[in-house]
Amino acid sequence: MAASWLSGVVFAAYIVAFFGGTVIGGNAYRWNEALPGLYDPSSRLSTGAIGAHFAAGSILVLLGPVQLIGRLRQSIPRLHRWLGRIYVVSAAAAGVGGLAFIVWHGTIGGTLMDVGFGLYGVLMVLSATMSYLHARSRRYHSHRAWAIRLFALTIGSWLYRIEYGAWFLLSRLFSEMAEFSGLFDGMMVFFFYIPNLIVAEFVIRTSQHNRTASADLSASAMFVAASAFIVFVTWMFAANTWGFKIASGLTL
Ligand code: HEM
Repeated sequence: MAASWLSGVVFAAYIVAFFGGTVIGGNAYRWNEALPGLYDPSSRLSTGAIGAHFAAGSILVLLGPVQLIGRLRQSIPRLHRWLGRIYVVSAAAAGVGGLAFIVWHGTIGGTLMDVGFGLYGVLMVLSATMSYLHARSRRYHSHRAWAIRLFALTIGSWLYRIEYGAWFLLSRLFSEMAEFSGLFDGMMVFFFYIPNLIVAEFVIRTSQHNRTASADLSASAMFVAASAFIVFVTWMFAANTWGFKIASGLTL
């Protein structure tokens, strides 16, 4: 958990320092160093929409894990409620901003990526809305289920980078995989959030009572292995791209 959150903090620092820093420095055109077409001076609407989605996305990456801390929820429920409101509004803004960018501009990957990312945005707005409405009506069981789905979706944007990082590493190990194949890119437009949603459904349906000691042990082992992997990939990203972009967003 701590490894994932730290990795998310590095990802959020990249978004704030690079995308925010370049706007403050009057160099927003540099967004296109991350992906061509993100900053389009001829379309204020799509540039504004993707910019709002960056700001909202960085809040989501930072707040999500805090909302999951059970002890904090129980001891300071007011804090949980306020952070929850900020989280839900940010999720809606990230989803709507991303969807508006897709409609006005389109993604770099074409129709398949438009569909994959479009569905991602729709599911995020739906989960944020349902989570909020159930909490307002004090239907806490349903609120919990939708909040878990929402969290699973929001970590998708971070997982997308981690999974691409893993693919880069594999490509270096096995030279025959050195090129990004269309198949991998095609799968990835859905793969960064559908498996998370399946795990989320499993978590929602597994109560404390039907957990066994051996299941807990395997879960812990998987958790340690996943944490080590996440730390490694985050370090690779920070050393090769994010670190440089954070520094250049703040200084150039
Ligand atoms: C936690 C939430 C999110 C975060 C942190 C996030 C972050 C980012 C970042 C940093 C980029 C720029 C590319 C890069 O530097 O890697 C990006 C691009 C993009 N995101 Fe998000 N995002 C989030 C949620 C969403 C959602 C819900 C949608 C769905 C509509 C979406 C749609 C897009 C699109 C369409 C692009 C541009 C892709 C292209 O030009 O082809 N994002 N996002």
